[in-house]
Amino acid sequence: MKIAILKEAAEGERRVAATPETVKKYIALGATVSVEAGAGAAASIKDEDYAAAGGTVGSRAETLSSAEAVLGVQGPDPTSLEGSKSGAFIVAILNPFGQRERVDAYAAAGVEALAMEFMPRITRAQTMDVLSSQSNLAGYKAVLDAAAEYGRAFPMMMTAAGTIPATRVFVMGVGVAGLQAIATARRLGAIVSATDVRAATREQIESLGAKAIFVENVKGIEGEGTGGYATEMSDEYKAAQAELVSSHIAKQDIVITTALIPGRPAPRLISDAQIASMREGSVIVDLAVEQGGNVEGAVLGAVAERHGVRIVGHRNVPSRLAADASALYSRNLYNFLSAFWDKEAARVVLPDDDEIVKGVRLTKDGRVVNERLLA
Ligand code: NAI
Repeated sequence: MKIAILKEAAEGERRVAATPETVKKYIALGATVSVEAGAGAAASIKDEDYAAAGGTVGSRAETLSSAEAVLGVQGPDPTSLEGSKSGAFIVAILNPFGQRERVDAYAAAGVEALAMEFMPRITRAQTMDVLSSQSNLAGYKAVLDAAAEYGRAFPMMMTAAGTIPATRVFVMGVGVAGLQAIATARRLGAIVSATDVRAATREQIESLGAKAIFVENVKGIEGEGTGGYATEMSDEYKAAQAELVSSHIAKQDIVITTALIPGRPAPRLISDAQIASMREGSVIVDLAVEQGGNVEGAVLGAVAERHGVRIVGHRNVPSRLAADASALYSRNLYNFLSAFWDKEAARVVLPDDDEIVKGVRLTKDGRVVNERLLA
């Protein structure tokens, strides 16, 4: 089975879908691996490193020629896959809800598109979970981005010239990214508080040494839906949350928002009036900006300023740590493909009735087959 590793085409995408480590592992399984020249450059991986691991480095046409599996970070353009085998697997983060037309185009191109972000959150698939591996890094980087924009230090410092107070950091949305943001801000010496709609996060927040800020005594308070994800909250809850956040946020220096609801726009958590209540020089990082944003006035791909508060809206935050993000993402892909490696056939075989396959498979035999897209 020939596996192709493409150079990412999307602007600003620095990650790559395989590292020399995973190339070696695919070859050990019995696959051959072709890497498009320059694919790893932005993640600090040289072509020579892939070659030393046993990969063949070549042009895009050479890489795709007769490929049976095409690995990417963001999905490749369906019209750019010429040369790959009919029915080839396309394995990447495909943004199926946001780019539905592209899913249809994969079906029309006769390839089998597999969306890694649709990986079911079951124990068996934990090592294949790209949302977790990338969100973890994004949560860490969000705090560093905030610190870089902020004109003050994070830890309390007692100096001969006087004392600098500790920075107050508030994390909204305590999934994978939020937990890492709490841990990182704590390590930098900040006083950290956090909130989420899922009651289960209270203990997690407290175990990291942060203060849990939660809406109490409101109907529909448990915001946990299926698969450990959040659900859309009631209007009553939203009003109570807004009030709670308003009084809390005015006392914060840094706010990191990470709140997402699968398949829906990100919930709006911070209003312009709340931003205006913050101290001049405060910083907000909106990690949900690509899904519509948690913060009013956040601008995708820019650092905006409102009422003297900087609102950081970087695109593709995991890509800002391209080397680590690539290493973890590549292992996620390897863990997925190797789990379905059929020794006799010497290729990946995806059984129709497997829970993981049903979760990630978007197209097969020219049709869109994923339940979440057909619903
Ligand atoms: P996510 O990226 O979908 O959302 C981020 C956070 O925002 C979540 O904690 C969510 O509850 C919160 N949120 C949504 N709406 C909100 C609102 N209006 N106000 C405040 N917070 C709001 O979540 P992520 O990071 O993907 O994790 C979701 C859950 O899945 C977690 O419980 C995590 O531990 C679990 N998980 C399970 C895995 C497995 O079993 N294999 C792997 C990874 C995560």
